[in-house]
Amino acid sequence: MIPVNTPFLNGNEKKYLNECIDSGWISSEGPFVQKFEKNMASYDGRKYATACASGSAALDIAVKALGLKKDDEVIIPSFTIISCAQSLVKLGIKPVLVDSHYETFNMKVEDIEEKITPQTKAIMIVHVFGLSADIDPILKIAKKYNLKIIEDAAEVIGQEYKGKKCGSFGDISTLSFYPNKHVTTGEGGMLLTDDEELDKRAKSLRNLCFSLDPNKRFIHEDLGWNYRMTNMQAALGVAQFEQIDKMIEKKRHIGNTYNKLLKDIKVINLPIAKTDYCENIYWVYAITLKDGYKKTAKEVMSELKDNKIGSRPFFYPMHKQPVFNNMRLFLNEDLPQSEKLYEKGFYIPSGLALTNAQMIEVAEVLHKVLV
Ligand SMILES: Cc1ncc(COP(=O)(O)O)c(C=O)c1O
Repeated sequence: MIPVNTPFLNGNEKKYLNECIDSGWISSEGPFVQKFEKNMASYDGRKYATACASGSAALDIAVKALGLKKDDEVIIPSFTIISCAQSLVKLGIKPVLVDSHYETFNMKVEDIEEKITPQTKAIMIVHVFGLSADIDPILKIAKKYNLKIIEDAAEVIGQEYKGKKCGSFGDISTLSFYPNKHVTTGEGGMLLTDDEELDKRAKSLRNLCFSLDPNKRFIHEDLGWNYRMTNMQAALGVAQFEQIDKMIEKKRHIGNTYNKLLKDIKVINLPIAKTDYCENIYWVYAITLKDGYKKTAKEVMSELKDNKIGSRPFFYPMHKQPVFNNMRLFLNEDLPQSEKLYEKGFYIPSGLALTNAQMIEVAEVLHKVLV
């Protein structure tokens, strides 16, 4: 089986993990956590970073740190992971959904303004699958209506928008270090900001809102979470970060190689290699079936599995999620591109440990299946 993702752990990961065990520093108090935070903050050109338990945890913290509360509205794409919407819904905040472009997988900027109401307090930008969202017009709208920006850069560590790193655009930006990300800590996430107050709140929320005053140790003014990252996770992160340029280069190599190997298959759309503002980083190699093709994405994925090739479906849009519909959310939404992406899209093996020989094998099977 060629799995859809295999992480690449060939640097100092073991050495740094051994240091944790030898020194006894295995909790979040260990030195790798701050080192990893410094590394990521300076890489993305931010002043402050808060490492935490996952990308989903980072979104929970971001929403609360910004002071968003019940009955506020936040604009998000429907075509994204549930972490984005649930970080809002769990606090009684209303996600207001916009559709996405079929070609770039990113939110339709031109649909944002009509969704703004007096309750709108923020826009959550999510960069999807490897191309950055079109940031400038979103920032312009945010400025016009005085809205905060949460930037979910989980999938695009190392990507740039007009030469500036994704992760540098939000009032608060978030990352994920799940093993399919460009830098992994097994599980993990991070918040990035330039605002000292937001950073303090993020660090407090990550740590159960413990008081910083030693005399008030178990006296709490607010509710947070234990979303801390362990020193062992951060040790992996520091080792991974040492190879970040190589990781990004490898991702682009995978994307460019598949582009060549798959270009003559007539029934699929390959991912866009370049837009006016960014070059694809191919977090995953995402394919859509052309209109009129006889097979569904589900059928293609099942045939790939029969041929020992891993694949994954695209996101199921937020407005179709039973959990939200059961809460009477999004019942009359019409966001056709998000729905079509789910029906026609899937991604193929694109992890950092993928070899050229494996890509050739994947391409051969796709040629056989996509007839
Ligand atoms: C856009 C986006 N946001 C957030 C997350 C959540 O990250 P995690 O799996 O670390 O909770 C993911 C996960 O892949 C993601 O793709």
